Amino acid sequence: MKENKSYVIWNNKGGVGKSTITFHIASVYAELHPEKDVIVVDMCPQANSSSMLMGGGKQSESKLQDLISKEEPQSIVGYLTEATLAGDADLNKYITKLSDVNTNLSENIYLVAGDGNLELIAPLLSERADATPLSAKDDPWVKIHSIVKNLTGKKLNEGRECTYFIDTNPSFSIYTQIAIVGGSSLLVPINADDSSIFAITGLFNLIWGTSNEHPVYGKYTFASKAKSHNLPLPKITYLLGNRFTQKKGAAHAFKALSNEALNKMYEEYQNNPDKFEPSENEINNISDFEQNYSIELRDFNSAGVVAANQGLPLSKMDQHTYEVYGEKIQVAKEQRELCKSTIENLVAKL
Ligand SMILES: Nc1ncnc2c1ncn2[C@@H]1O[C@H](COP(=O)(O)OP(=O)(O)OP(=O)(O)O)[C@@H](O)[C@H]1O
Ligand SMILES: [Mg+2]
Repeated sequence: MKENKSYVIWNNKGGVGKSTITFHIASVYAELHPEKDVIVVDMCPQANSSSMLMGGGKQSESKLQDLISKEEPQSIVGYLTEATLAGDADLNKYITKLSDVNTNLSENIYLVAGDGNLELIAPLLSERADATPLSAKDDPWVKIHSIVKNLTGKKLNEGRECTYFIDTNPSFSIYTQIAIVGGSSLLVPINADDSSIFAITGLFNLIWGTSNEHPVYGKYTFASKAKSHNLPLPKITYLLGNRFTQKKGAAHAFKALSNEALNKMYEEYQNNPDKFEPSENEINNISDFEQNYSIELRDFNSAGVVAANQGLPLSKMDQHTYEVYGEKIQVAKEQRELCKSTIENLVAKL
């Protein structure tokens, strides 16, 4: 039986589409893989992907509130708390079968819900991670940082492979570090703007460290601790140019930014291909790199607004008009088809 695959969606920049992409790829992946179980782990206190998966809009907020206000929260906070205190946690206690709350989703997709209280337990996680080891074998830093890694190794049903999608917060807080370590593959969404391209450098520095370690702070960083504790890190799998196919007239400008982002990534690849998922094809130049490591996602326009508001995967969007907060929103068939095939193309590569 194959090992589980786990995808962590992260960029150190906010608002690049991490949660939106998590929602779309996880829901379509589950539909296209009825033979597998799919579990979304929402490691962001904003819980945006949880809301979309739970059906979107106001009603998903109250369902989410029910989960997180249980005495033992049925959320990522519940899971992290039990795993921190007891060494491991029972995944079944903390997941939600999504087709029970959102009938647009298939039977094989589950959620470990996001929870605003992640911010509140962050100091506890940090304190536990930095605790003095009790013996030569004890390694609290690795134990805490491996909680989600251990989770994504689990199967829900005997004999069925599990695929995990982990949504994250842009900050590099301890729960984001735990989320990143939890993935075997890293998907990096970027937008066509300079700040999200600069964030690529930040991403490498934060996860793998800088070539010149700071003389004082250097040894306290996640990167240097991960190295000294031999903690395995995810491999970069795809750079996702989100909303790159936006307006026809802007295509040229977007291409320039996309090239700049690729240059940065390719430079890193040349210096250290080990940080990337090995490619089946030979990579000899930047255009080979682009073909193998980048995917452009189009702007979903009104289809995206409807999908997020109703927790509706693009594959299930079959009407011309939808109502969002009392307003009628039109989604042309051509647009629906384009958005659907964009996501399916990406999912086919996972
Ligand atoms: N491909 C897309 N087409 C249209 N709108 C999009 C697309 N991707 C993201 N958006 C919109 O951009 C905004 C930010 O997206 P999202 O919340 O997914 O980003 P994020 O990276 O998860 O943000 P945060 O860093 O706050 O967690 C949302 O309003 C979302 O609907
Ligand atoms: Mg988000």
